[in-house]
Amino acid sequence: MKIGFIGGGAMGEAIIRCLLAKKVAAPQDMVVSDISPARREFLKSEHGVTTLTDNVMAARNADMVVLAVKPQTLPQIMGELRGLGPSQIVLSIMAGITLSTLSNGLGHACIVRSMPNMPVQIGQGMTVWTSTPEAGEEQKEMARTVLGSLGKELYVAEEKYLDMATALSAGGPAFLFLFAEALVDAGVHIGMPRPMAQELAVQTILGSAHTIDRTGKHPAELKNMVTSPGGTTTEGLFQLEKGAFRALVFEAVAAAHKKAQSF
Ligand SMILES: NC(=O)c1ccc[n+]([C@@H]2O[C@H](COP(=O)([O-])OP(=O)(O)OC[C@H]3O[C@@H](n4cnc5c(N)ncnc54)[C@H](OP(=O)(O)O)[C@@H]3O)[C@@H](O)[C@H]2O)c1
Repeated sequence: MKIGFIGGGAMGEAIIRCLLAKKVAAPQDMVVSDISPARREFLKSEHGVTTLTDNVMAARNADMVVLAVKPQTLPQIMGELRGLGPSQIVLSIMAGITLSTLSNGLGHACIVRSMPNMPVQIGQGMTVWTSTPEAGEEQKEMARTVLGSLGKELYVAEEKYLDMATALSAGGPAFLFLFAEALVDAGVHIGMPRPMAQELAVQTILGSAHTIDRTGKHPAELKNMVTSPGGTTTEGLFQLEKGAFRALVFEAVAAAHKKAQSF
């Protein structure tokens, strides 16, 4: 599969790294266009991919064209890329950019819109994606293979779930990093050395996430299993409930969702 990348920044590179690690594509199958000379030099020496300044050239012989730039640069890029071949598939990872914006702007029908998240940088991402009806089974399979190499992928038939995923799974890592930071600081506050607090917090989050995943149990059931009557955990949970922790999480996700819909 020949893949042309428009933009080789943080996300573009993360995808390249995953594709190489999972052997979905070889360096010679990938062409990256980026306006930054430093980025081009880095991507070429680090990953052996071909780098260019010309977006049209990067897309020319590609089976799949990955749009991995910030949304502000999109109007210019869509103008440049008009006239793609009908069998070429466009894969966008841009937050808030709809299938119809892409399809109208590019004058192209076969499009996949996806929302990966930051852990794709270590191949542990969560990507939600959808496509235009014009994307055939073969093209969707190509998208599934590429997005599956980034971690977990989930196809949705309805585009509305993309803005929801932007709030929950794409914003989620930042919410969890904030929680992790707070847990470490809380450990320091009660007298624990900072490196020890960090080690405990990280393994606790990791182990808890794996437990939800492997047991398949509802998080509330697992929470109840570690909360003994009159014990220490219930004391802590009471403070979180008093501070409306749960409602605050609802509000955070709803605010991010509203913002995603406003682009
Ligand atoms: N980061 C995340 O966690 C995340 C998650 C999901 C989706 N996304 C989406 O991924 C997209 C890319 O994000 P990112 O974090 O990878 O951004 P980024 O690091 O800024 O990467 C974009 C790259 O494209 C280059 N570029 C700018 N204008 C260009 C042009 N006209 N032609 C070719 N290349 C151009 C930029 O160069 P300069 O830096 O020199 O401008 C930069 O190297 C965004 O639309 C974002 O919504 C990001």
